[in-house]
Amino acid sequence: MDNSFTNERTLKTGETLILRAPIEEDAKDMIEYLNIVGGESDNLLFGKDEFRLTVEQEAEYIKKVKQDPNMLMLLGIINNTVVSIAEIRSLGRKRIAHNSELAISVKKEYWGMSVGSAVMEELIRFAKDHELIKNISLGVKASNERAIKLYERFGFVKVGSHKDYFNINGEYDDEYIMDLHIDK
Ligand SMILES: CC(C)(COP(=O)(O)OP(=O)(O)OC[C@H]1O[C@@H](n2cnc3c(N)ncnc32)[C@H](O)[C@@H]1OP(=O)(O)O)[C@@H](O)C(=O)NCCC(=O)NCCS
Repeated sequence: MDNSFTNERTLKTGETLILRAPIEEDAKDMIEYLNIVGGESDNLLFGKDEFRLTVEQEAEYIKKVKQDPNMLMLLGIINNTVVSIAEIRSLGRKRIAHNSELAISVKKEYWGMSVGSAVMEELIRFAKDHELIKNISLGVKASNERAIKLYERFGFVKVGSHKDYFNINGEYDDEYIMDLHIDK
């Protein structure tokens, strides 16, 4: 699998979900998506309209991602609408390059349709097929039961926590660190 990755599947609801790597022309839709999704839950690192990259900066980022063999970024698309953005990337330095970080979001009206599961499957497949990656790590808000359940279903285990890591308008919450180890 490489950064030109694309895959199509039918969800249990009958919708067709396309999973593909983004191209520069997706930048505008992706920024719109991130600004909406930021406001739909308090579970991301940014809130509504707090994703501040310009279309040009986002397009530049997409270009970099496309050339990076140690990273996969995926768009989930249903009926020409971006419904999910996710990525996995291995850490840069040689001594820790076999470790990777994963991030995922799904637009709220598409929650519970197994979009998140389909995306997780592909990100984990990328890690398993990658020549180096042996660990996948992620951080999740302790109260984000839906996400934690999804990660546990894919074998992630809680390995620690950062107390009061999140400050959502004055309300603090811990961050759980969850890992999936890949035997290679
Ligand atoms: C977490 C998220 C990615 C899940 O995506 P999704 O497309 O809804 O995921 P799926 O439909 O594949 O699976 C969700 C699972 O949570 C379960 N679930 C649904 N509602 C739930 C709830 N209130 N509490 C706990 N689990 C719940 C579902 O039953 C499903 O599990 P199952 O398939 O075993 O039944 C999505 O909710 C999201 O983007 N949330 C906001 C951003 C976010 O939290 N990102 C993660 C940051 S670490």
